[in-house]
Amino acid sequence: MPEKRIVLKNCGVIDPKNIATYLAADGLKAWQKARQMAPEKVIEEVKAAGLRGRGGAGFPCGLKWELARKSPGDEKYVICNADEGEIGTFKDRYILENDPFTLIEGIAIAAYAVGAKQAFIYLRAEYHHLLDLLTSAVSQSHEQGLEVNIEIREGAGAYVCGEESALMESIEGGRGEARYKPPFPPNRGLWQKPTIINNVETLMNIPRIILNGAGWFSQTGTEKSKGTKVFSVSGDVARPGVYELILGSPLRELVIDLAGAEKVKMVQIGGATGRIVPYTMIDTPLSFETILGAGSIIVYDESRDTIDIVYRTLEFLAEESCGKCSPCREGTEAMAEILARFDRGEGREKDIKVLEELARAMSISALCGLGQAAPTPVTDSLQYFREDYAKRIKQGGKVRC
Ligand SMILES: Cc1cc2nc3c(=O)[nH]c(=O)nc-3n(C[C@H](O)[C@H](O)[C@H](O)COP(=O)(O)O)c2cc1C
Ligand code: SF4
Repeated sequence: MPEKRIVLKNCGVIDPKNIATYLAADGLKAWQKARQMAPEKVIEEVKAAGLRGRGGAGFPCGLKWELARKSPGDEKYVICNADEGEIGTFKDRYILENDPFTLIEGIAIAAYAVGAKQAFIYLRAEYHHLLDLLTSAVSQSHEQGLEVNIEIREGAGAYVCGEESALMESIEGGRGEARYKPPFPPNRGLWQKPTIINNVETLMNIPRIILNGAGWFSQTGTEKSKGTKVFSVSGDVARPGVYELILGSPLRELVIDLAGAEKVKMVQIGGATGRIVPYTMIDTPLSFETILGAGSIIVYDESRDTIDIVYRTLEFLAEESCGKCSPCREGTEAMAEILARFDRGEGREKDIKVLEELARAMSISALCGLGQAAPTPVTDSLQYFREDYAKRIKQGGKVRC
């Protein structure tokens, strides 16, 4: 039978400080099973499961591993992306706090599959309090004979360092700036060697896929989005927190039934560069083929002001742009300036045209995902809440519903 809790299964059940409790809950059995399989067979299983990356882009996990496996060379790396800098995200923190062992087992299986001897966990700077817990979990796991060496590297607080190429620059000791692509990490990543980077939640799925089989995993979800998804829900809700849902479940179930939101005006899905959808889309299924990105869900009720939300989001992105390419460096600043004008009640009709033109230019010419997706809150709000911009031009001042 398909299960509703795949990723959070051990959370609240095992003791994250003591591997004995993990071992009692079938811990490391998947790793033992994987080592009896050929690495290519492990990759086949992950591909057949249809697991897609949970870090935002939804890239097929098995395909990424296969590319790295087939890349020539003996020196390869696995990186677990625990940077979690997206606004409103705290699901990876919850996983790290409650079940570091499944993550480590997932990393060990990934390393075996691609042929890596060294792995890194890139930990968000603000999660420094988790360093001792993770270090202890890694050392307890190594005592059980894991062949991969896992090192924890702490970030320095830059949002862009969650982007895979900026993250690798950071591990190498450089400035946290995105790289030109191609080459992509499975061909040339960390120190120009084949590298796979996966989100915490993606790797958490691996042990259960190996233990229960691809068929078990792919029973749940939609045609193109298999398994479950973990969400961090915050904002105007009665019960903020971390929830796991089968992919394809409606947004309504998460936001209203579980988190207890009322009078919803809009939902920001996937963080600063994610989609903003109006209440009329509350029955949209949560899947990669619809509106899903990273696992952040921020709910705004009818008392919230659209311009205020979009302005603050663009201010954040302008601040966090690494500045390497001009479409993003200049574009996010220009958008934030225009939105500031709207926020002061000084927006003009022609500003909307400029926002739309900037959005088009940035989405096709920015170097990395930050700049390419930075216009999303602007374009979505113009699509669904254009009347709020129009009212602000007409009346000036803030628009309250
Ligand atoms: C600005 C920016 C920030 C990102 N932050 C994160 C992050 O904090 N965690 C994460 O897993 N992926 C983040 N990503 C996505 C990564 O670049 C990468 O796609 C992901 O780690 C791949 O893992 P997955 O295939 O398991 O999803 C970010 C991307 C961008 C453009
Ligand atoms: S898009 Fe933005 S964050 Fe990415 S490289 Fe260009 S300036 Fe840096």
